[in-house]
Amino acid sequence: MISVLMFFACLYPVFLWVGLGLTGGLTANPPEYLIRSSGEWALVALCVVLLATPLSRYARISVLLKHRRMLGLFAYFYSILHLLGWAFWEQGFGLEAMWLDVVTRWFITVGVVAFVLLTPLALTSTYGWMRRLGRNWKRLHYGIYPAIGLSIWHFWLVRAGKNDFFEVWIYLAVVFLLCLPRIIQLRHHK
Ligand code: HEM
Repeated sequence: MISVLMFFACLYPVFLWVGLGLTGGLTANPPEYLIRSSGEWALVALCVVLLATPLSRYARISVLLKHRRMLGLFAYFYSILHLLGWAFWEQGFGLEAMWLDVVTRWFITVGVVAFVLLTPLALTSTYGWMRRLGRNWKRLHYGIYPAIGLSIWHFWLVRAGKNDFFEVWIYLAVVFLLCLPRIIQLRHHK
């Protein structure tokens, strides 16, 4: 039952977009709104994945930890929608135009690297891959940290064009706070 609720909660952005679409609330530029919104929801989902462990360890609330795989896959799902939105609305699915954008716009390059880093994590999220990779599974999944770092850098570069960093600072602070217990733990193990 909790899993079903969790699944629908993760679909909240989709319901939101459909609702806004039906009521004319997707701003004056719906493609831009949807590209941005999917990117932000991908980042939110990655932050919720990071929250799972500290929430279970310090507050004894394990619901996120139990559904971490689902949350991670939703983060990837929103990244794919974000990527598709850019590929379709900004590049008309033209391979050459997409390639040109990747190599000429720095923020796109960083976003693509973040997406590429997330891909093996999503592909190996099944129990079968967990078993097959053994200890290496955990090592591979540490890739979430550079992926989040690059996503925030990408976000920073997007906002640099508008000189509006407020939200980026909030995400940075949240990610730093969520990583703090892990950093402290690593120092204790040394
Ligand atoms: C395939 C790689 C990616 C491409 C091509 C891409 C492309 C874009 C584009 C075109 C924008 C809008 C820029 C603007 O309106 O000026 C954007 C914004 C954004 N992207 Fe990405 N992105 C990619 C990967 C990612 C990933 C992996 C994440 C996070 C997990 C992400 C998070 C964001 C965020 C948070 C924004 C800013 C939204 C805002 O300003 O409110 N992107 N991206």
